[in-house]
Amino acid sequence: MLRQQIEQRLQEAVLRRFPDADPASILVRPCPDERFGDYQTNALIGLAKQRRLNPRQLATEIAADLGLDDLTEPPEVAGPGFVNFRLRPQALVALLARAARGEHLFCQPDAPPRTVVIDFSSPNVAKPMHVGHIRSTILGDCLARILRHLGHRVITDNHLGDWGTQFGMLLVGWKTELDSDALARDAIAELERIYRVINARCSEDSPDHDPAVLERARAELVKLQQGDPENVAIWRRMIELSREQFDAIYRRLDVRFDHTLGESFYNDRLPGVVASLLEKGIIRESEGALVAFFDDVPALKAHPAIVRKRDGAFNYTTTDLATLEYRWETWRPDEIIYVTDGRQQLHFQQVFEIFRRWHPEVPTRLTHVWFGSILGENGQPLKTRSGQNVKLADLLDEAEERALRVVREKNPDLPAADQREIARVIGIGAVKYADLLPNRQSDYVFSWDKMLALNGNTAPYLLYAATRIRSIFRKLEEAGERFDPVAAADRATLTEPTELALARMLERFDFVVHAVAAEYRPNYLCNYLYELAGAFTAFYEACPVLRSEEPVRSSRLLLCHLVFKVLETGLGLLGIGIPERM
Ligand code: ARG
Repeated sequence: MLRQQIEQRLQEAVLRRFPDADPASILVRPCPDERFGDYQTNALIGLAKQRRLNPRQLATEIAADLGLDDLTEPPEVAGPGFVNFRLRPQALVALLARAARGEHLFCQPDAPPRTVVIDFSSPNVAKPMHVGHIRSTILGDCLARILRHLGHRVITDNHLGDWGTQFGMLLVGWKTELDSDALARDAIAELERIYRVINARCSEDSPDHDPAVLERARAELVKLQQGDPENVAIWRRMIELSREQFDAIYRRLDVRFDHTLGESFYNDRLPGVVASLLEKGIIRESEGALVAFFDDVPALKAHPAIVRKRDGAFNYTTTDLATLEYRWETWRPDEIIYVTDGRQQLHFQQVFEIFRRWHPEVPTRLTHVWFGSILGENGQPLKTRSGQNVKLADLLDEAEERALRVVREKNPDLPAADQREIARVIGIGAVKYADLLPNRQSDYVFSWDKMLALNGNTAPYLLYAATRIRSIFRKLEEAGERFDPVAAADRATLTEPTELALARMLERFDFVVHAVAAEYRPNYLCNYLYELAGAFTAFYEACPVLRSEEPVRSSRLLLCHLVFKVLETGLGLLGIGIPERM
């Protein structure tokens, strides 16, 4: 895109002057204030200081040597030595023309492509997926879409919680408490119920406490671990039933995984992991357990990690170490991204640190992309009115129902099936957008009214803007006209300020998508799309499209066409589809 071209020429000019300079530190970013220009660099200030030169003078000299006439107005030196760049209308027209010919859609892939494993969603078997898993699912899926769009090889892996001590209780419950009708109706609800009943009998401070049940749960767990055929069969069945419900939700959210290797997949590897850590001196015995200590890591000094418990059992940490090693052996990834809530930060710091010591030769970047909680309007963690965790399926149902009410009101004459389909797309889109728009590390308040509003930074607003553009082309078609973007590109002109502003927004798409990938922050893309829709509205109010004369008319249609494609692509990267009409 134009920004990269400016950056490249700036780097070349700097290298002509200082052959030893590091081009990676010479960057061109959007101008914080558009009155000064579209893009800006502050790199020459640092460069001059390092070399004891006058920054303004250096900036002036380099600016004169850039050879940017085809792309920008003459660059301006400002303040202590910033250089500001303003894109030329002809450069924007040429960029639009290349997009019209299908040479790009305002976003260039990264080179070289990297292999990235994304570990996300990862709900726990026999428990319903709740709003905590929604953020992981939506965020992880969005990052996968973004990285794929930039040309990377992405491998998504759903690290299902399908192993652990809870299965002792679940097995007792299955054998003594199961209501098979309830299981057929809603398997996870029934599994959750038997778990709750048995858990109450196992916990000492409960009125239902029964030591014999606790004993039995332990025994059932040991039998499962030893491969008892009956218990293994029940355990498999519980996984199967849970996965059916998870998959129903993934289908609704249009989320797919390349792999679903649950925690249990790694069971056979755990003894070997521990033996290897022992042999390398990374863990040692402490009070009967095997533990990694981090005396030389200030943040972890007070937080040793148990890798094998006193009773010989392995844990979440052991499994994650085995998983990491397996992923390295299998896919040789350049990076592994874990998407979970912020409460797991310590866990991942420990796992990453142990893994570094264990396999110092592995260059894989390990990233924990964490997020905050979803709160109810009372500022407390989101619950149902009766105080239960909100189930994801219920939440999606409600989103679709609420959207349906709005759609019915706006389009009373549409056939019911169409209304429902539109409401489905809007409802799911609204939930996803509400999850992706806030800074992921802050808690956010879940509000139906806000996320479904037609005004403001919401999915319905963006979808409405997109369908409005679609309807322009529908009108054109109804009048028997065919719009040809390539022909329009050959004689495109941009003169009105709102046309130019819109073209500049399109050019910016590349920068935004790369920023999302670099910082794992989809909210940048949400805000960009909102601004793009705003720029479109301003243009559409100021500039008649169908009623204007050629060649202005086809230039404006071309802008509409490209804005639609960027909105469609950008929303698609967020995992959000556009309904046929609204
Ligand atoms: N099952 C876990 C949970 O629900 C999340 C797993 C995240 N991934 C991992 N490799 N630890 O909290």
